[in-house]
Formats: sequence, C-alpha cells, structure tokens
Amino acid sequence: MQSKKVVLLNRPVGALKETDMGVFDETLAPLEPGEVLLEIEHLSVDAFIRTTFDEGAFHGTAGLGQAVMALGTARVVDSRFDGLNQGDAIFGPVGAQTHAKLPGAMLQKLDESALPARCSLGVLGLATGMTAYAGMAKVAQIKQGDTVVVSAAAGAVGSCACQVAKNLGARVIGIAGGSAKADYLLNEIGCDAAVDYKADDLAGQLSAAAPDGIDVFFDNVGGEILDIVLLQINERARVVICGAVSQYERTGDVRGPSNYLKIPEKNASMLGFTVMRFAEDYAEIQAAITEWVLAGKLKLPEQIEDGIEQFPKALTMLFSGGHMGKLMVAP
Ligand SMILES: NC(=O)c1ccc[n+]([C@@H]2O[C@H](COP(=O)([O-])OP(=O)(O)OC[C@H]3O[C@@H](n4cnc5c(N)ncnc54)[C@H](OP(=O)(O)O)[C@@H]3O)[C@@H](O)[C@H]2O)c1
Repeated sequence: MQSKKVVLLNRPVGALKETDMGVFDETLAPLEPGEVLLEIEHLSVDAFIRTTFDEGAFHGTAGLGQAVMALGTARVVDSRFDGLNQGDAIFGPVGAQTHAKLPGAMLQKLDESALPARCSLGVLGLATGMTAYAGMAKVAQIKQGDTVVVSAAAGAVGSCACQVAKNLGARVIGIAGGSAKADYLLNEIGCDAAVDYKADDLAGQLSAAAPDGIDVFFDNVGGEILDIVLLQINERARVVICGAVSQYERTGDVRGPSNYLKIPEKNASMLGFTVMRFAEDYAEIQAAITEWVLAGKLKLPEQIEDGIEQFPKALTMLFSGGHMGKLMVAP
C-alpha cells in the first residue's frame, strides 16, 4: 500500500513556515498480527502540533524526518486486530499521512449513529469541544450571570468555549482578530459582544463590552491580551489558562503576565488545565456535548482543506489566523 506523509524537515525558529515540512511517498509494509491498515479521512489541525516541533516539548518531540504527529479519523481497510473490522471508523493519533499501519489497541472505534466520525476531531474532539467543556464547566465553574471573556474565540476551542459558557448561563465576549471574525462571533456563535484585538484600543473595547468587569477569562492566547484582560477582572474572578498560542512561536523565554498582581488584589484565581486531567469525566462530557449538538445548542463550523499537501499550509494558518471554527485536512 502506498501512503503520503508529512515530515518535519527542520526545527522551526520563530514563525512556522510551510517549508519546515515536506510531503513524501512511503510504501507500507504488510500488516503484523494486532495491526490495522487505515485510510485516513480527516486530520485535526491543532496548535499543540507546533509545540512538538521544539526540543523537550510537553506533548513529545517530533523527530526530524518522521511523520508529523496529528489526531485523525480513519476507515479500517484491513485488520489483523480482533476488535476492528474492515469498514469500521476509528479515532486516534494517526499522524499526518494518507494511510497508516498501526496497532489496533491504540485506536478508538467510533459510533457514527448520532454524529459523523469527523465530529470526534471537532465538537466532540478531545483537543477541541471536550477541552472547551472541561475548561468552562469543570475549571471555571461558570455560574448564571457570569461575564466571560474568551480569547482566540473564533478558533476551534474558542468557538466551543463561547457556546458552552452561554449554555451555562453566562454573558460571553469573544476576542478575535479582524472584523470578519467579530461578525462570525456575533452571528454564528452567539456571543453577546465581540472585540477585535487587531483594531485599536483593545482595553477600551473590552471595558465597553464588559462595563461591570470580567468574572471569567478563558485564555487561549497569553501574552499582551492576558495582561490587558487582567486589568479588568472582578473580585474573585477565575482566569483559566487553556493555552498560549501567542507564545508557541517565540524564540527564547515565554512571556509571563506582567499584571499578575491583579490576582491577589482581586482575590482572584489563575488556574491552568489540560483536558487529560478529566479522563474520568470523558463519557459524561461527551454525553453533555452530544445532547447540546442534537438540541441545536452547540455547533462548530468546520473549515476542511483538501489534500495531504495542504497540511503544512493549514498548520501555519493556526498562527496567522486564516481560519474560523475547526480546521481540518481531508488527505
Ligand atoms: N488545555 C488543553 O488541554 C488544550 C487542549 C487543546 C488546545 N488547547 C489550546 O487551545 C488553544 C486553541 O487551540 P485550537 O487548536 O483550537 O486553535 P484555533 O483557536 O483554532 O487557532 C488558533 C487561533 O489563535 C489565534 N492566534 C494565533 N496567534 C495569535 C496571537 N499572536 N495573538 C492572538 N491570537 C492569536 C488565531 O486567531 P485570530 O485570527 O483571532 O488571531 C488562530 O485562529 C491553543 O492555545 C491550544 O494550545 C489547550
């Protein structure tokens, strides 16, 4: 079986470039006992992939010349694993490639009866909808009437996080770059207000949108945006660090929040989390998300790029802001 895979050619310094990756042909060896042959249908384009290109990365470091790490959904083409049969849909760490030969034990068989398989990367995805739900419901513990601000709000986690907070009774303000994303937040995602951080006076826009201050900040970006929001938090605010996409391409030290003294001054908390912490709650979280999706109370628009050759460009798009909702590649 022939496959095409995206390979890391060199460790990027600063901004990721498409040319840091290349696409190569590979001939897959015959299946060993316990393995399955997969045709990959959708690849999730996630911010954490960029972090794996650095030495000592939290999610593991990608080897030069190896297939880039990626979560995906796939169809089983052939199986020598007892739990999976030809035609089954799976989710797993399939890698950025068109086909893969993997141990069946590391894959999760998908039930496609309620939602299509690719939803396991988006609205039901561990690194997307489930992260948003865990961060809002379990970490921020949103209460009715909270004023909630979300950064990178028009992205995958952000789009879900805004709607989860709305469904839990909050007033939600999304921060994103550009007027098209502000329109998307207001008209597609249902935010109460939208703030364009690429326009002038982010602090003034925020205080106009949240005149009574901010109770919860769900931060995907870090850096300057985190500092500006910290100056507007309320007494007992909860600042939830989901990620810091502004810092992933930095050379040198990560920039920490200069205004962190607002945390003690406001008797506030700053809590970080990874979705993996909530492994015991995955079934409950998936059930809650599915119920909202089927009831029309949670949706995640998808942007799907066609062809494995588009994967390097799609990954750079996460940092240049060229997509809305969930970005995927259909190889
Ligand atoms: N804690 C966890 O377990 C967990 C799990 C998954 C993901 N995450 C985190 O969730 C965040 C979102 O990830 P995602 O995969 O859903 O990506 P995404 O939000 O779909 O894409 C990233 C977005 O970040 C914005 N952005 C990029 N550089 C920026 C900058 N310098 N300043 C401000 N905004 C910037 C861009 O939107 P604009 O056009 O608005 O700039 C871009 O669309 C990431 O921080 C990721 O690490 C955390």
